[in-house]
Amino acid sequence: MAILDIVLEGDPRLRQKAHRIRTVDDSIRRLAADMHETMLDAPGVGLAAPQVGIPLRLFVVHVPENYVEEGSPETTLTLVNPEIVKAQGRVLGYEGCLSIPGWTGEVPRSDRVTIKAIGLDNRPLKIKHEGWVARVLQHEIDHLDGVLFLDRVEDRSTIQEVPETEEAEGPVEALSAD
Ligand code: NI
Repeated sequence: MAILDIVLEGDPRLRQKAHRIRTVDDSIRRLAADMHETMLDAPGVGLAAPQVGIPLRLFVVHVPENYVEEGSPETTLTLVNPEIVKAQGRVLGYEGCLSIPGWTGEVPRSDRVTIKAIGLDNRPLKIKHEGWVARVLQHEIDHLDGVLFLDRVEDRSTIQEVPETEEAEGPVEALSAD
């Protein structure tokens, strides 16, 4: 395992449309393991392959237990070729991004999403999430299409700098998780 360098805003690699992965092999599994380690080290709650300079449709998520609210479960995911197949509702919430450290802004997202993907065992899977975790998943899928959260901010006056202490642990920078 290894901690990878995180690509920052302004780097054209964040703006490419990432390629589908034909088959999950050991090199992809190794990349996913390194991405998990990099995400935990950052620390963040999500990380997409383009953020480590790899133009592939893969992301990892780790939301610790009690992170979203008291009693919320842990969510740990590795999704390959994810696609949103159903999205409902619309909610506003603040996001951050490991590729845009120190900044946050309010982004509209679907409240509930159903996502199809394949797992590291090459098997198809379908998951449903809502609220904050659904937001993380939409943020990560955007990275695979070269879209950053700042692109989606509708009210530009909500864009603000996050004090470094909050950044490390607040739910906002949690999102910066990715
Ligand atoms: Ni991000």
